[in-house]
Amino acid sequence: MSAAYPALRLRRTRSAAWSRAMVAETTLSPANLIWPLFVTEGDGIEEPVATLPGVSRWSVDGIVARAREAQALGIPCVALFPNTPRALRSAGGEEALNPDNLMCRATRAIHDAVPDIGVLTDVALDPYTEHGHDGLIDDRGRVLNDATMAVLVELALVLARAGANVIAPSDMMDGRVGAIRYALEREGFHDVQIMAYAAKYASAFYGPFRDAVGSGGLLKGDKRGYQMDPANAEEALREVALDLAEGADSVMVKPGLPYLDIVRRVKERFEVPVFAYQVSGEYAMIEAAVAAGAGDRDALVLETLLAFRRAGCSGVLTYHAAHAARLLAR
Ligand code: PBG
Repeated sequence: MSAAYPALRLRRTRSAAWSRAMVAETTLSPANLIWPLFVTEGDGIEEPVATLPGVSRWSVDGIVARAREAQALGIPCVALFPNTPRALRSAGGEEALNPDNLMCRATRAIHDAVPDIGVLTDVALDPYTEHGHDGLIDDRGRVLNDATMAVLVELALVLARAGANVIAPSDMMDGRVGAIRYALEREGFHDVQIMAYAAKYASAFYGPFRDAVGSGGLLKGDKRGYQMDPANAEEALREVALDLAEGADSVMVKPGLPYLDIVRRVKERFEVPVFAYQVSGEYAMIEAAVAAGAGDRDALVLETLLAFRRAGCSGVLTYHAAHAARLLAR
């Protein structure tokens, strides 16, 4: 039996708001948002990031205020990234392991002031190295896998001791999820989650982020020797399978909108929580469109976030998180 026009009119259920609400297949709520925040030194500091209009770096007190704001808006988790002062960067990225570095101070301060919010901390060395790469490099500038991994394990422990709830390795070294999981278990951090940047592509969409953490001008070469080739999808499934086997609690696809096919395939194949990072260049593109009069910010933001949910994401890391949560509260 198959109905056809005029018995079947798909416009019927679209004809009124109440009906559209009733048949909507996908929902978007503040609980689906993770808010990335940039931490900087000082007190009472807000530094706008030129290439990310509307996004600032905040000193620790401001980060705490943002965490309070997130909680009031129903955003369950914030993601922290440090702007390490140039003088503290080094070839080996030693500042990463300083238990009083910016990340640790911000994490502790959030936990003291806003104990019920999740704190996700990135694990990679690019905010701490003088060359801007995610790991240690050899004399030809190649990122060393196993030597880097040893430092990342220590970094994960430093962050867990500061109170991080979610460790998010964004470095793409082979084997690091298992090594971090093992170390966390050994130290009793059984409830500290790992959200693996499992399918992270060598993308042209990260530029403004690199400005925000201060590694943009420093980076020599590119990250194609460790981040994924945008040509590949099967390889993303292999990356995800490995990270899950090594103990990841959830996986991330990054960037976001250009890679929704990957999100969908990962979700269908593995049936685990999948997150996507709507990265800095994607945010900047929306803001540029708005500034050019080419689109409406609120509508663009909500439509893109809904698209992530439709593709299968549990949640989205987005610089528009607070703005979107405010729109959703109306
Ligand atoms: C670094 C890291 C990057 C982002 C998150 N963690 C940049 C990079 O890999 O060069 C990008 C996020 C964004 O662009 O918003 N490990």
